[in-house]
Amino acid sequence: MRVKAIRANLAEVKADLAACFAFEGDQRPRGVRDKTLEKELAAEMRAERFKAGAGDVLVWNTNGRYACRRYLVVGLGEEGNDARVALRAAAAKAIRVAERQSADRVAIGVPPVGDAGALARATAEGALLGGYRFDRYLSDPRKIRAKVKQVELAVDAPVGGVRKPVGAGEVVARAVCLARDLVNEPPSEMNPGRMSRVARAEAKKAGLQARVLGVPELKKLGMNALLAVARGSSEPARVVHMTYKPKGKSKGRVVLVGKGVTFDSGGLNLKPGNFMLHMKSDMGGAAAVLATMTALGEIGCKYEVHALLGLVENMTGAAAYKPGDILRTYSGKTVEIGNTDAEGRLVLADLMAYAAKRLKPDHMIDVATLTGAVVVALGPHCIGAFSRDDAFCDALVEAGRSAGETLWRMPMFDDYLDLLKDGPADLTNVGGRYGGAITAALFLGEMIPREQSWIHLDIAGPAFYEKETAEVAFGGSGAGVRTLLGWFESASR
Ligand code: BES
Ligand code: ZN
Ligand code: ZN
Repeated sequence: MRVKAIRANLAEVKADLAACFAFEGDQRPRGVRDKTLEKELAAEMRAERFKAGAGDVLVWNTNGRYACRRYLVVGLGEEGNDARVALRAAAAKAIRVAERQSADRVAIGVPPVGDAGALARATAEGALLGGYRFDRYLSDPRKIRAKVKQVELAVDAPVGGVRKPVGAGEVVARAVCLARDLVNEPPSEMNPGRMSRVARAEAKKAGLQARVLGVPELKKLGMNALLAVARGSSEPARVVHMTYKPKGKSKGRVVLVGKGVTFDSGGLNLKPGNFMLHMKSDMGGAAAVLATMTALGEIGCKYEVHALLGLVENMTGAAAYKPGDILRTYSGKTVEIGNTDAEGRLVLADLMAYAAKRLKPDHMIDVATLTGAVVVALGPHCIGAFSRDDAFCDALVEAGRSAGETLWRMPMFDDYLDLLKDGPADLTNVGGRYGGAITAALFLGEMIPREQSWIHLDIAGPAFYEKETAEVAFGGSGAGVRTLLGWFESASR
């Protein structure tokens, strides 16, 4: 899909379909910028009792009386304080409707309800996200839905000032789609080896450094917890270290750590079948981190950013790690395995300890499909945020909100650490039945100095959508990418 901004009104752009928008309670659509067409659409809205609730769509066929044969009015819902969020979702919806109508060219009237550049950008993001589908394994051409080829964003401002934000929106949306592709690939394809090769290739394209560590190097470093998880698989573990260096002076160093369990069977504590079904998505954190890295240059990130991807498969082979095993992590702390299905925290443990000690970052962010418990607590579409750094946490929550992702801060109660501290080792890897997302976060926190600025993003809910929304198709969602890029962008300003 190509996206471009033009200065035009919707009565004059030639496309297969044109979309404009309305807030709840509006008598006429916004963003049309042609009085006659606007009037006709308003009459149609009245006649159809169109309420413009979020996601409502009105389709109007002009029978050739205007430049486009069909016009859509898409509802934005209640007029709130950030039109970008509503517009992103509505633009995604418009693309979905356009696809069903086999439209090649779509024009979208960006409504004049704030900064033209920011709104055009949100519209572009929505269009690209809504147009995403994973169809490369479909062989019946009739099952492959037509894609919109070109989107023209009609704005009422000099295009010169809009092009740049639209370009940034495209970069972000393409990164999200890259993460989606990685998650959607079948698990026997996107295994640790393959994913490390993709990381290397993407790094090369984006001008980043990338180093792939294999099993002998990981052994030498002492990444014993990560290696233990991989032992039950015939696929050897990999760690990818990617580095982005800004042009000019760096504002600081940030390390991103991604959980990349390319398939989580649960290990010897095998998951029941229906819980295992979508566990190819257990590398969603690493996918988000990888995709984020590829976009840093283009969004003008002024931080030096390191990514550590922990790539392993959690399987039940003859050499698999066992409940009762005691591992010495990179941090030096020992961990007794209470459950082999709590493997993500072991992978992250070594990488976070390594990052804190060797890279000494100003901020650390880990992204992981870590616990079922966070999904129980926050539902399927929300990222759980755990941090002891209030300002940093607030900044990430806000970056997510304005980028269209929901983060919710969760507590890190120090006294719950006791739940991880009985047994023959320094820690156990499971904290019992209750508060599982919190004890998992506390476990991670034990691997780094308390003063280390750090946030843990548990994306177990939103990494994989089992029910599609306007912006997210069934499958991998790219959860985390928008939040991370949004934070880097605003922190670099
Ligand atoms: N990968 C899972 C968490 C998960 C659950 C991700 C649902 C996406 C959707 C993780 O490795 C896991 O199995 N966690 C266990 C931990 C438990 C054994 C302490 C869980 O949450 O049940
Ligand atoms: Zn697991
Ligand atoms: Zn897992």
